[in-house]
Amino acid sequence: MGSRERIKKGFSKLLKEEKLKTIASYFENPGEVISLLKSYWHSDKGQQKLFDEFSENTITNYIMPYGISPNVMINGKNYIVPMVIEESSVVAAASAAAKFWGDRGGFHAEVPDVRKVGQVHFGWKGNLEQLEKLFPAIKERLLNDTESITANMKKRGGGILDIQLIDYTSKIADYYQLRVEFNTCDSMGANFINTVLEQFGHSLHDFFAEQKELPEALRQCEIIMTILSNNTPDCRVKVWVECPVEQLDGIDEHLSGAEYAVKFKKAVDIAHIDTDRATTHNKGIYNGIDAVVIATGNDFRAVEAAGHTYASRSGHYESLSTVTITDGIFHFELEVPMALGTVGGLTSLHPLAHKSLELLGNPTAPELMTIAATMGLANNFSAVRSLTTKGIQEGHMKMHLNNILNQLKATDEEQRQAREYFKDKTVSYAAVEQYLKTLRQS
Ligand code: MEV
Repeated sequence: MGSRERIKKGFSKLLKEEKLKTIASYFENPGEVISLLKSYWHSDKGQQKLFDEFSENTITNYIMPYGISPNVMINGKNYIVPMVIEESSVVAAASAAAKFWGDRGGFHAEVPDVRKVGQVHFGWKGNLEQLEKLFPAIKERLLNDTESITANMKKRGGGILDIQLIDYTSKIADYYQLRVEFNTCDSMGANFINTVLEQFGHSLHDFFAEQKELPEALRQCEIIMTILSNNTPDCRVKVWVECPVEQLDGIDEHLSGAEYAVKFKKAVDIAHIDTDRATTHNKGIYNGIDAVVIATGNDFRAVEAAGHTYASRSGHYESLSTVTITDGIFHFELEVPMALGTVGGLTSLHPLAHKSLELLGNPTAPELMTIAATMGLANNFSAVRSLTTKGIQEGHMKMHLNNILNQLKATDEEQRQAREYFKDKTVSYAAVEQYLKTLRQS
């Protein structure tokens, strides 16, 4: 089971129809699979070509729900937030939290810094003292050689902020690193950073080769690799909500707002000391963040990688959100690194990403960071609120009921009746299956 016959060499050279046929041949009913996959092709050929060219070996499009969380108040501004996510309840949970906090002053957010990092990893046989002596000249050479690449970014207020030399020779023989900091303004900046770094690599290599006074061995510099770092702790956003604890009255029918605040804090504190819980807690935060990141054509893998590294900054993986209760004020905060762009890349190419940004009022990159982080905090709030009160399954399974009904091929009328029937009952696959069986028999 599992292993498939190898595809003949040259798959990538085949025409799209040929690729589709090749892949369909792996299914029991190739004709049906071809029709199904083709049914997801865009009816406009130009649009489809755009998607085909985003990535290699594209044979169809994979559709995800594009939902809306209406009326999210951040720093006194109202946003209509697009969210792309397949998981039931995420948009509903975010919207419920947005409404709850909208009535309590909304979300507050700030972006302390937007520095991004790139690295030139290189090997050189000299010692640190020798390298430090050459470093001012190296820096000057690197900046000069990249002037034409950085000119536009500089005009927009960004560019190269700093170049540091890191000595790793105690860990790996002859290994040094240039750690370069960038401001990429409203672009995510991956292409800009990598282009600069690759030029740095060439220039560094040539710089050493040209140092005629150095012994031959020190005129060699091995450029191991040059690449941006997805660790962006200094490209970070902080978002929070707060209210007097009395304004949490009613969340739990058995507890006062003050008592509930303590219970909620305990649930978040657990995610600070226990990694198993922290992973799930942070996953709930990324439910909200990723949905906005994807809707706006940004790189959710980069955003998540940075976030999980940040969550481990104490040496122990923990919650990205924190609760404090001081002088009767409940304060719930999320601080996350996030490298986002609102210009360039997929943000301009993907027609829906483009429209998402327009719906958000064409935010700057830092503003988009505040929006995505807010949806993370909103989802985190709703998840912890459900977990510490009635549990998540009730709401989740109500939403999931639709998926189960679709899976069981229920007609519209059966779906309507099932939704009515399960209003006050526990939803499970078996219960829905049994209900439909009985309904169909009668
Ligand atoms: C489910 O996608 C997310 C939650 O598990 C998050 C959490 O437990 O905090 C509900």
